[in-house]
Amino acid sequence: VKSIIIDTDPSPDDAVAFLMALGSPDDLELLAITTVGGNVPLYYTTRNALKALEIVGRAGEVPVYAGAAGPMVRVLETAEYVHGATGFEGYDLPDPVATAADGFAPDKIVELVMSRPEKTVTLCCLAPLTNIALAMAREPRLASRLEGIVLMGGARSEGGNVTPAAEYNIYVDPEAAKKVFECGAPIVMIPLDCTHTALTKKPRLDKLRAMGGPHMEAFYHLLEWNKRFDEKAWGMDGGPLHDPTVTAYLLKPELFRGRLVNVEISCDELTRGMTVVDWHSVTSRPKNALVLTEVDADGYFDLVIERLYAARKA
Ligand code: BDR
Ligand code: CA
Repeated sequence: VKSIIIDTDPSPDDAVAFLMALGSPDDLELLAITTVGGNVPLYYTTRNALKALEIVGRAGEVPVYAGAAGPMVRVLETAEYVHGATGFEGYDLPDPVATAADGFAPDKIVELVMSRPEKTVTLCCLAPLTNIALAMAREPRLASRLEGIVLMGGARSEGGNVTPAAEYNIYVDPEAAKKVFECGAPIVMIPLDCTHTALTKKPRLDKLRAMGGPHMEAFYHLLEWNKRFDEKAWGMDGGPLHDPTVTAYLLKPELFRGRLVNVEISCDELTRGMTVVDWHSVTSRPKNALVLTEVDADGYFDLVIERLYAARKA
């Protein structure tokens, strides 16, 4: 069983990612959920994390720690135009009863990793990397204590979804991303090239809903609402289900294909947040990330549906 911490800014795809971990107790032990300002402000990302836990009857089983409200040196740019005002539009989940646990997420990440045996904790990053970079700044030995980092973010040849060059999670806090990519821990990066082939097409969402139960119904509607933006703005046949690729990779790496390469992060204005991927090894820079560019999309959705369903306590 792999021990993981999930750092997130829920929107529905983030919530599916961490609920899948809860639906996989034989494979994953979720030590904590840490939230950050991202898609929507921290108030909502934290609330949404709590709401998602409550709809599957798992509140209190995993602590939710709130972290940074915004990037290290920049102003937060949210994405309500994609996810709606609260980040969870399309279905009215009840207000959470629980509140976030005491403690600042970056401190808790340090505490959890440093108190466990070396190289036994994996950080799963589904959002701007602010909390992770702050944790690394607080504890310089943190990176060397990690088993690894698996993150959704960046783009190889697909181009960006916020600017021509950059994907949202890396764009929002490029200084944090730079620190993380230079930290020395083994990194798995899942870019848009991969997630843009994993779309919530109608038959897949219908299959999810047909499993039955209140949480499958809720996520059907949340994902249904969410995909409208990508369908309209991008002409896609469904919305990309980005963040659950992180959990899916931990559960079934054989669904993915990629290459170990060098990745550098641009903090320049024109290319802010660009992941410069040396796919053809034309430099001798260190290979710091396994970049996954392909996924078996049907196998992925089957796994998502199975483990999301299993997240609910009977
Ligand atoms: C990333 O941004 C968010 O909208 C998604 O949850 C994902 O983490 C994709 O660019
Ligand atoms: Ca996210």
